[in-house]
Amino acid sequence: MIGRMNIRDELEKRISAALTAAAAAVQPVPAIVSPAAKPEFGDYQANGVMAAAKAARMNPRALAAKVLEKLDLSDLAEKVEIAGPGFLNITLRTDLLARAATAAAADSRLGIAPAARPQRIVVDYSAPNLAKEMHVGHLRSTIIGDALVGVLEFLGHHIIRQNHVGDWGTQFGMLLAHLDELGEDAAGSELSDLEEFYRQAKKRFDEDPDFADKSRQFVVRLQSGDADCRRHWQKFIAVSLGHCQEVYARLNVRLMSADVRGESAYNADLPAVVEDLRRAGLLTESQGAQCVFLDEFKGEDDKPLPVIVQKSDGGYLYATTDLAAMRYRAGTLHVDRILYVMDHRQSLHLRQLFAVSLKAGFISPAVSLEHVAFGTMQGEDGRPFRTRAGGTVKLIELLDEAARRALEVVRAKSPEMPAEQADTIARVVGVGAVKYADLAMDRIGDYRFSFDKMLSLQGNTAPYMQYAYARIQSIFRKGAEEAAGLAGVPIMLNQPAERELAKRLGRLEEVLGSVAAECKPNVLTAYLYDLAGVFTTFYESCPVLKADSPEIRASRLRLCDLTARTIRLGLGLLGIEVVEQM
Ligand code: ARG
Repeated sequence: MIGRMNIRDELEKRISAALTAAAAAVQPVPAIVSPAAKPEFGDYQANGVMAAAKAARMNPRALAAKVLEKLDLSDLAEKVEIAGPGFLNITLRTDLLARAATAAAADSRLGIAPAARPQRIVVDYSAPNLAKEMHVGHLRSTIIGDALVGVLEFLGHHIIRQNHVGDWGTQFGMLLAHLDELGEDAAGSELSDLEEFYRQAKKRFDEDPDFADKSRQFVVRLQSGDADCRRHWQKFIAVSLGHCQEVYARLNVRLMSADVRGESAYNADLPAVVEDLRRAGLLTESQGAQCVFLDEFKGEDDKPLPVIVQKSDGGYLYATTDLAAMRYRAGTLHVDRILYVMDHRQSLHLRQLFAVSLKAGFISPAVSLEHVAFGTMQGEDGRPFRTRAGGTVKLIELLDEAARRALEVVRAKSPEMPAEQADTIARVVGVGAVKYADLAMDRIGDYRFSFDKMLSLQGNTAPYMQYAYARIQSIFRKGAEEAAGLAGVPIMLNQPAERELAKRLGRLEEVLGSVAAECKPNVLTAYLYDLAGVFTTFYESCPVLKADSPEIRASRLRLCDLTARTIRLGLGLLGIEVVEQM
């Protein structure tokens, strides 16, 4: 059986060969076979002829005609045509598509082979600052990072999740100073509400310079290993991380406590980082601070921008910790690729981190360092996302609200559904809607959070996709059919709508490959949305339960099942669950 990607590779190879044969004068040019634009979507278009013609100063259509003479694709293509200024449009053979769909349906991985060369990939995501409750500022990193983890893991890569939590900074000095003032016993009970405890400490910090001083001293004591500080700090961390895990569980995110490797984990390595930079001749002292200046980073005034790695009082910084993390990921984790799923505002920090790490030899240039940047989450008014009172929105509250609103949607759709079942479904739909709305955006842009839009049953939303899935399941219920009973049923593509559906189903591997390469989950959501639309067209034009013959009925049910499994798999990789009924 020829796999779908092999079809594409095979096309590339043969067209390149024909191209070289047709224009011996030109260097071999890749054929660049890409899925053609709609409506031929899913068939292929070779546009390499254009580039070759340009290089050889030939008329592209004339060259294309020559290529056609040398090209035999009869075992793969029904039709090869010259189109536009000199493209080749390739219409795949329908029997090939049918065989590919049949094979995908017979496979628990839907025909997608794990990567031939699995990579070790660190995904650095979520990373809230502890001591405060997780708020919406951490939502995008958590959701996007986790979706990438899902896709990359499915493709067979070895994923190392790194939750680089902020567990070591000034905020802990405040907490320790506040605890010190209240006395350990008095503070004990208030710790259950760490958020409130933090608010009080922050207030003291902002209002009282003595308290601020004391806080700073506590940071130093903590970081130099004072036993009491350490014990209290551990308690703060435990409460705070416990809270994060609760949010992760609610969000259906794959982060576990074992994935936490916070800033504190690198404390002991920081002196060595600075020492290594010194030995590499990269350090400059500037106003008492240890800095790295690189030519490629200049401020607006054209003055070089420093990366400060140690302050004049000996304290280390965010950048120092990230350099230490880089050494750990290279030296201990042996990574091939690191994804930093972080706000676009940290782009300068990361460019500097990458540049310094390479210069200092902390990481090999063979490792791919990528900033998976995303824009800000805004309210519907386009302003920063806040509560009515102007405060930060707690994630748990946001998810509660999503579930509440999703329940209204479910109730409206299925008024007679038992309350308990409706509740369960509403939770899945609510969380799914929040995640899907985020993932479906081009992540680079800012994104407007709107409950109404994300919970709509129309358009590219989670409820729409979840409903599309549930509706297919209902076909099976109505026909009293078991998808499992269809094992071995061959898929036949006699109608255009069947063929269209099979083409879409066959694109999954390309789509996942491009999500993995570009770190763009929205490529997958767009694919799923498109698939659901093509399925609707198929379902409207091709009777399934009332098909003309038992063979066609079985084949169409198999197509239904493969579509449902493709949606379930795709959503599942993104961290979104489906429901059997809605
Ligand atoms: N804790 C940081 C923040 O809340 C994000 C850390 C991201 N990861 C990293 N390796 N710097 O902004």
